[in-house]
Amino acid sequence: MERLVEVEQISFEEDKNEVNLRPSSWDDYIGQEKIKRNLKVFIEASKKRAEALDHILFYGPPGLGKTTLSYLISSEMNSNIKITAGPMIEKSGDLAAILTNLEEGDILFIDEIHRLSPAVEEILYPAMEDYRLDIIIGSGPAAQTVKIDLPRFTLIGATTRAGMLSNPLRERFGMHFRMQFYTHEELAKIIQKAAVKLNKHCEDDAALEISRRSRGTPRVALRLLRRVRDFAEVENEDIIMKERCKYALDELGVNESGFDEMDINLLELLVSNKGKPMGLSTIAAALSEDEGTIEDAIEPYLLANGFIERTARGRVASVKTYEMFRLSYPNSEKLEEGTLF
Ligand SMILES: Nc1ncnc2c1ncn2[C@@H]1O[C@H](COP(=O)(O)OP(=O)(O)OP(=O)(O)O)[C@@H](O)[C@H]1O
Ligand SMILES: [Mg+2]
Repeated sequence: MERLVEVEQISFEEDKNEVNLRPSSWDDYIGQEKIKRNLKVFIEASKKRAEALDHILFYGPPGLGKTTLSYLISSEMNSNIKITAGPMIEKSGDLAAILTNLEEGDILFIDEIHRLSPAVEEILYPAMEDYRLDIIIGSGPAAQTVKIDLPRFTLIGATTRAGMLSNPLRERFGMHFRMQFYTHEELAKIIQKAAVKLNKHCEDDAALEISRRSRGTPRVALRLLRRVRDFAEVENEDIIMKERCKYALDELGVNESGFDEMDINLLELLVSNKGKPMGLSTIAAALSEDEGTIEDAIEPYLLANGFIERTARGRVASVKTYEMFRLSYPNSEKLEEGTLF
């Protein structure tokens, strides 16, 4: 099943469309105010010193604007950006080739940086720290290390799983930014700006209706907007109105909290455990999903909005979830005592 609120990597076709909707200036990049403020300062300072920007790490759930932000940084720094991803760099030689092709001040963007192999990571350490490449030629006692100087570049790493980054790699980034989920108001602004680019006018309450159901994520909001636009187009409507949004989103199975089947399945599963914590591997097996998807794409929003809680012994549904299902909250303390005996 294709998740409509799917927040994983997008298909190429959709990516092409998304490029059109991608903000090209700071003003079009809504939200993440603290990150923007900080970045502006660092960018200005490094421009004044005529130095490359320090290495930057963005982390957080998919679809919150890490890639977009990296493009904005490169345009702000007037520098070229080269894009690659952890799984695409198989051998240390691949990375060496990328690094030696960089020019002074270039930005190298590595998506899914937690998926670099240890051998490739080794190459990255001196490159990040001293702008130097250490290449070992030959093997055994005759092996020699050749050092090659690299231009001063900026590495921007993006990851959905900061916890999976090795410590030495994480520490070599001068700036770490955790991406936040967006408020309904911020998403509504993003939706309205994007609607204009799609030659539609989206009314305020319609934009809010879509944003309420977007799991705090711009990529989801934009995807839902496109679907709603299709419904409006079939009805020959140039203006996107709340009623059409409601109808379209209900038809598409996106509920009032923005939960889709996967979220609901997870919440139902936890509720059925009656307040006892459930481990990640049990959840994954029950939902036939891999643990990574549950941790990176499904849980963060539910955790951030208090629908589930993480305890040492696993996940539990919160009062809010029981209320949503109109169920009474089990007395978990009693239950947990009970399980001890
Ligand atoms: N702050 C924002 N303002 C306006 N549009 C945004 C913002 N953040 C993201 N978008 C839009 O949302 C879409 C997804 O953003 P982006 O691709 O940058 O996410 P990402 O964090 O890199 O996701 P992933 O982890 O899956 O790579 C883009 O099409 C972009 O246009
Ligand atoms: Mg991205």
